Parts: sequence; structure tokens; C-alpha cells
Amino acid sequence: MKDAKIHLLDKTFKPYIPHDRIIAAIDEVAQRINADFRGCKDIPVVLCVLNGSIPFTGELLQRLDFNCQVVSIKMSSYQGTQSTGTVLKVMGLTSEVRGRRVIICEDIVDTGNTIVALKEMLLDQEGAADVRICTMLLKPDVYKKSVKLDYVGMSIPNAFIVGFGLDYNELGRNIPDIYVIDE
Ligand code: IMP
Repeated sequence: MKDAKIHLLDKTFKPYIPHDRIIAAIDEVAQRINADFRGCKDIPVVLCVLNGSIPFTGELLQRLDFNCQVVSIKMSSYQGTQSTGTVLKVMGLTSEVRGRRVIICEDIVDTGNTIVALKEMLLDQEGAADVRICTMLLKPDVYKKSVKLDYVGMSIPNAFIVGFGLDYNELGRNIPDIYVIDE
């Protein structure tokens, strides 16, 4: 991991989680999912929540050893470094999930507004048979909802981060390591 701070628009970020630690967490999550789904007769849906989960879903997928289908959706709730509290569906499901088991792949759960709204929508409106939540990162000090998070890669303190898919106003998604805001 590079030691240097980085600058995105008006903010400075310092090194936080190196790429190899992220990959180790994804390895562990994949093992847990494989233990639950290996040998399944159905074809579960791996749902990539665009855009933040693209790198996470890409790495996770390569480690899953059962037949699965990738579907994407785009939600939005963040503006700059703050959650707005309102979850918007920016782009609908790229394929139907009726009757299917769905594993949601999220980059980070913060307030949980996005994941809870998404799970509810998949079950109540889209007719999914079952929905599990898999998130690369969790901010447990912020997440106070009762909805179970089935697979969590890593828990982190409540601070704004970028890199490995996570953005500040759409910048920083391409950085392989994770950086935290330097205040
Ligand atoms: P929630 O709905 O509050 O749980 O927020 C979930 C979404 O907010 C994530 O999918 C991210 O897009 C975004 N988000 C939450 N925390 C951060 C962060 O620290 N950096 C960048 N994006 C974040």
C-alpha cells in the first residue's frame, strides 16, 4: 500500500486498509457462502449493488464454487460524505429474480437504509424466494437495524472511506486500497 495521502476534490484521505487485507476478508466471506450454498440444486442470484460493489462482487464471484447468476441493480442514498436517509432506485434489476434465492453483495452497510429497503423490495415486490445479505464492510456503531447481516467481511469504525469501489462524489472507486478521511 502506498504511504502517501491522496486528494479527491476538496478532501484528503490517508491509507487505511491495504488491498491484501480486503482480499483476505473476501476469501473468508466466500468460504462461508460456499459452505451454505455448495451443491445447491437451484441457481442462486448474486446481486451486485452498483457501482460501489463492482470490485467486491468481481472478487467474490471468482471464489464461489456453485452455479450462480449475476444480476445488478443501482441504488443511491449518499451525497458527498453523508447519508441522505432517502433510498432511491436509480436503475432496476437487470434480470427478474422471482422465485430465486438472492445473495445481495453490498460494498458497505452504514445506516442500513439501503440494504433494508433493498431486501424488502426483493421479497415483497420482486418475489424473491429468499434474500441473504453479504457486505464487504460494516459500520457497527451506525447500523442499528434488526435485519440480519448474513455475511460480513470486516467491521470498521464510523469514518468516511474511499477506494476498492467506494467513492467520494464518484471519485476513488478505482483505488485498490481503502483510504479514510483525514480530518
Ligand atoms: P446506508 O444506506 O447508510 O447503509 O449506506 C449504504 C451506501 O452508502 C453504501 O452502499 C455506499 O454507497 C454509501 N456509503 C456508506 N458509507 C460510506 C463511506 O464511508 N464511503 C463511501 N460510501 C459510503
